Amino acid sequence: MVEVQHLSKTFGADTVVLKDINLHVKKNEVVAILGPSGTGKSTLLRCLNYLCEPTSGIIRVGNVTVDASKHTRREVRNLRRQSAMVFQNYNLFKNKTAKQNVMEALLTVQKKSRSEAEEIALKLLDKVGMLDRKDFYPSKMSGGQQQRVGIARAMAVNSDVLLFDEPTSALDPELVGEVLNTIKTLAEENATMILVTHEVRFARNVASRVIFMEDGQIAADGTPEEIIDHPDNPRLQRFLNFITN
Ligand SMILES: Nc1ncnc2c1ncn2[C@@H]1O[C@H](COP(=O)(O)OP(=O)(O)O)[C@@H](O)[C@H]1O
Ligand SMILES: [Mg+2]
Repeated sequence: MVEVQHLSKTFGADTVVLKDINLHVKKNEVVAILGPSGTGKSTLLRCLNYLCEPTSGIIRVGNVTVDASKHTRREVRNLRRQSAMVFQNYNLFKNKTAKQNVMEALLTVQKKSRSEAEEIALKLLDKVGMLDRKDFYPSKMSGGQQQRVGIARAMAVNSDVLLFDEPTSALDPELVGEVLNTIKTLAEENATMILVTHEVRFARNVASRVIFMEDGQIAADGTPEEIIDHPDNPRLQRFLNFITN
């Protein structure tokens, strides 16, 4: 479903953020990415849908392949439709209600009729437990509620892959659970997901695969049992001790 070959990203002249990343994610895999901050996790996710342009490498999502060395605008546009991103800070449109936020992509990208877009939006809001807040503006919702609308909005894109960049790290601790539960429900419905998170216990329970990134590279990649229960990489062990204590 997702294939990354020799992906590198350099900012400016010498800030090398991603170093020759190779990654293959199968359909219905739920991949959690762990790692210290500043190691390129967000940059990797952003490169997957060209929110960030790789310096070199090939990205394939679904049936769209983009080679950084010779990409066209049309390829990039097609690639972007293959995945949808849930951001740390929700990034909802402030002047739109929950329902209007979810309808946006349905109207503008998918060119659905207004009534069809509304019907789908309400179904998705119901799925994330936000149907009763459909007419609320972001300023009248808690962070957890805004993020659940953010997830419904990403689902509305109807892409094959959902990307989550630390979806709970901006939330107050008591609101984290409701968002993780929403993500867990999606994971159980066989969505292909790549999720950057610091929630190790959640990764252990929900992910089918865990990747540890360090210093712009994939330092460990395996099942949750291998990576979280029995880490054999010393730096991974140190990282896990650090964030679970
Ligand atoms: N637009 C940018 N310009 C310059 N440097 C950037 C930019 N975005 C990210 N970086 C740098 O890339 C590195 C990795 O960032 P990021 O991918 O956000 O890491 P993570 O998500 O793992 O915390 C950091 O050192 C960061 O400062
Ligand atoms: Mg990040």
